[in-house]
Amino acid sequence: MARKVLVLPGDYIGPEIMEEAVKVLRAVDRRFALGIELEHGLLGGAAIDACGVPLPDETLAQAREADAILLGAVGGPKWDGVERHLRPERGLLAIRSELQLFGNLRPAILYPQLADASSLKPELVAGLDLLIVRELTGGIYFGEPRGIRTLENGEREGYNTYKYSESEIRRIGHLAFSLARKRDRRVCSVDKSNVLEATVLWREVMEEVARDYPDVELSHIYVDNAAMQLVMRPKQFDVMVTGNMFGDILSDAAAMLTGSIGMLPSASLDKDGRGMYEPCHGSAPDIAGQGKANPLATILSVAMMLRYTLGSAEAADTIEQAVSDVLDQGLRTPDIHSEGTRLVGTAEMGDAVLAAVSE
Ligand code: IPM
Ligand code: MG
Repeated sequence: MARKVLVLPGDYIGPEIMEEAVKVLRAVDRRFALGIELEHGLLGGAAIDACGVPLPDETLAQAREADAILLGAVGGPKWDGVERHLRPERGLLAIRSELQLFGNLRPAILYPQLADASSLKPELVAGLDLLIVRELTGGIYFGEPRGIRTLENGEREGYNTYKYSESEIRRIGHLAFSLARKRDRRVCSVDKSNVLEATVLWREVMEEVARDYPDVELSHIYVDNAAMQLVMRPKQFDVMVTGNMFGDILSDAAAMLTGSIGMLPSASLDKDGRGMYEPCHGSAPDIAGQGKANPLATILSVAMMLRYTLGSAEAADTIEQAVSDVLDQGLRTPDIHSEGTRLVGTAEMGDAVLAAVSE
C-alpha cells in the first residue's frame, strides 16, 4: 500500500535542509521498496507569501490525507511585520493543534564523535541519551482566554491561561511511560507544583498513570531544578515528560548538550501514531542561502518518521547508521566543526549520507 508523505519545506534554510532529507528518503524508499509517495505543500512564511495565511486550507487538507508530514522550519524576520494571528509560527501551532499532534518526542542523543562540540565537558555528556516528551497541543500556548487588553485605568495588560485537563495529562503520561518501557524504564515528570495549580493536577495524574506501569520508575522535579540538573548532570535522566512551555524551553537546553541543535530530530504524534516530523532547530535566517545549514536533524527526522509512523525500523536504522558513518568520516557542517575535521556544506553532507544509505 502506498504511503503518503507530505513535505513542507518552510522558510529560510527550510528548503535547503529539506532537499537533502528528501534525497535520503527517496533512496531508502527505493532500497527497501517502501512505496512512499511524496507531495509538497506550503506552511509558514512561504504560505503567507503565496496565499496570505500561514496554514492554507489546502495544506491542512493535504496534511489530513497524509500518513506522515516532514517539515523543514518556519518563520523569520521577513514576516515580522505581519499581524500577530497571521505569523508563520501560528501556522505551525495550528497544524499541530488541528491534527491533534499532542505528543512531541525530542531526543537528545550525543554522538560520541561530537563529544567535543558540546558546551559541557565530554565526561558529563559522553553517552547521553535522553528523551524529552513535551505535551504539544495544550497548556499556556493554547489556553483561552488570551490577549492584550486595556484596563480601566488605561494601562495595557497581557494575559494567557495555563490549563491542563486530566485527559490531556493522562494521554501524554501514557505516551511517556510506554516509551520508557522501550528504554531505561525511568520517567521524570517536570512541573512547578509549588506554585501552579495546573501542575499540581499534572503531578497527581502522573502518579495515577504510573500505577499502570509498575515496571517503570516515576520521579518528579520542579522545572527550575530540572533546568539546573540538565546542565549539571544530564545523564541522570531517561525520559522527561512535561507540558508545552516547559518542554519548549528544556528541549532547547537539552539540544545544546549534544553539541548542536542542528543534530536533533523530533516527532509530533497523534493518538494513532500518525505524525509530523521536524528538526528541533528553527529557520536560521542568518545562514540561509549560504549552503551552511546542517541537514542532519532533518535527515534524522526522516528516520524517526520511518520508525514511528511508517513502520520501517530497518530503514530508520540504516539512516541513523549512515549519519554515524559520515561523522566517522570526519565530515562536519560549520555548527559542529572543530579542528581536525573536514568542513562541508549542506549539500555535501546530504550527499555523503545518501552515499552511505545507498551502499
Ligand atoms: C518549537 C518552536 C515553536 C514552539 C515555535 C516556533 C512556535 O520553538 O518547536 O520548539 O514554541 O513550539
Ligand atoms: Mg522551541
